[in-house]
Amino acid sequence: MAKDKTVFYCQSCGYQSPRWLGKCPDCGAWNTLLEERIEGQTRWAARDVSAATLPQRLGDVRSSSESRTPTGLDEFDRVLGGGVVPGSLVLIGGDPGIGKSTLLLQALDTFRGGTTLYVSGEESASQIKMRADRLGIAAQHIILLAETAFEDILRHAEAIKPAAIVIDSIQTVYTARVAAAPGSVSQIREVAAQLMFYAKRSNVTVFVIGHVTKEGAIAGPRVLEHIVDTVLYFEGDKSHAFRLLRAVKNRFGGTDEMGVFEMKGAGLAQVENPSGLFLSERPEGATGSAVVAAQEGMRPILVELQALVSPSYLGTARRMALGVDPNRVSLLLAILEKRAGLQLAGQDVYVNVVGGMRMEEPAMDLGIVAAVVSSFRERAIDSSTVIFGEVGLAGEVRGVQQAALRIREAQKMGFRRCLLPKRNEELLKREATEFALEQIGVAHVAEILEHL
Ligand code: TYD
Ligand code: MG
Repeated sequence: MAKDKTVFYCQSCGYQSPRWLGKCPDCGAWNTLLEERIEGQTRWAARDVSAATLPQRLGDVRSSSESRTPTGLDEFDRVLGGGVVPGSLVLIGGDPGIGKSTLLLQALDTFRGGTTLYVSGEESASQIKMRADRLGIAAQHIILLAETAFEDILRHAEAIKPAAIVIDSIQTVYTARVAAAPGSVSQIREVAAQLMFYAKRSNVTVFVIGHVTKEGAIAGPRVLEHIVDTVLYFEGDKSHAFRLLRAVKNRFGGTDEMGVFEMKGAGLAQVENPSGLFLSERPEGATGSAVVAAQEGMRPILVELQALVSPSYLGTARRMALGVDPNRVSLLLAILEKRAGLQLAGQDVYVNVVGGMRMEEPAMDLGIVAAVVSSFRERAIDSSTVIFGEVGLAGEVRGVQQAALRIREAQKMGFRRCLLPKRNEELLKREATEFALEQIGVAHVAEILEHL
């Protein structure tokens, strides 16, 4: 019999080491290495290769893209790429309490592909029932199972033969094959690998919920990302009602789609018009507020960006940014100083995307510039103006993609004027795309000062 081997795993990134280390050399986290025993882990891999996996010619392989089943929750389907693919393993990560369990229970409710199994290791069946009552779900096609032992879950799954399974959450499930505690890296990896085998073998869609903590203290979805087919992150600010579902990896679709939900008293409501939600509380005539026609995936979204520029009373001026990259803001401030002659050195600058949105897109640049200039000069931006464009180091305003889509969204939301890159304006003119909205092409950041 082989001697039990122990390995030290970093609980934050999954790094392996034969001995204990104070600092993880891979992710740099301190005190995250934990000893875990592994027993003959390599043996099952060879056993599970079934006769079904024979080499085939590419041309002979049947494509499975047609067999996508929509869950019926449109925003969820959009992010998945049009519905669930049978036999796929989907990971949904997010902070505790963000609404992952709610989202999946609602998705199972609208799912029409057959019986579904909801396995919970966190709540009892009656607790889930209470949640379901609150959501108004009384579906007979959802079977609940409060279980954490992986082998038992598998036994039930094989008897029930569901079309889709939810495992809530991967951190609570453990397999007897690994001696480590539930939630540790080796347990999570082993359970995920077994679920993958099960999904592929039985052609069942498996949704796995995983908690991520800000400190990364508990082995989280990060170590699973390369095992599963699709990784979705459910995020949002707990103090705000809206939640965003994004795909960061998708073997069966794009990763550029985003789903928007609003957490209400009776569960998650789909938000079909995110721009309306984000602009609903815009102050009229305030300085430092700019509306940017941004883009999330294939979807144009108007967001309000606010900047506050005020004289600094400290030696070094403070620069803070929420929702946009702080480094990007520093860079744009330097460009404004050097290329537009704005004296920002003694000024504290705060930039915030309203509503807790996180927008990391080059087209935000011109909006940040306009908001900063507006606050610095104490001049409000006309409330019917929308802005977008990328700014280069020479102060030039560069064209961005999907200009027509952005303008159309702004038009729909009732905007009448648009500051956009000169290049995009010219391209649209050449294509003879007509808009009711007045377009003002900007070639250099200094021109922004004239237009406000
Ligand atoms: P939950 O789905 O349990 O989060 P997770 O599984 O990600 O930990 O939902 C968490 C929060 O959502 C909870 O604090 C209360 C809130 N909530 C509502 O506001 N409305 C609802 O209908 C439900 C079910 C939950
Ligand atoms: Mg939960």
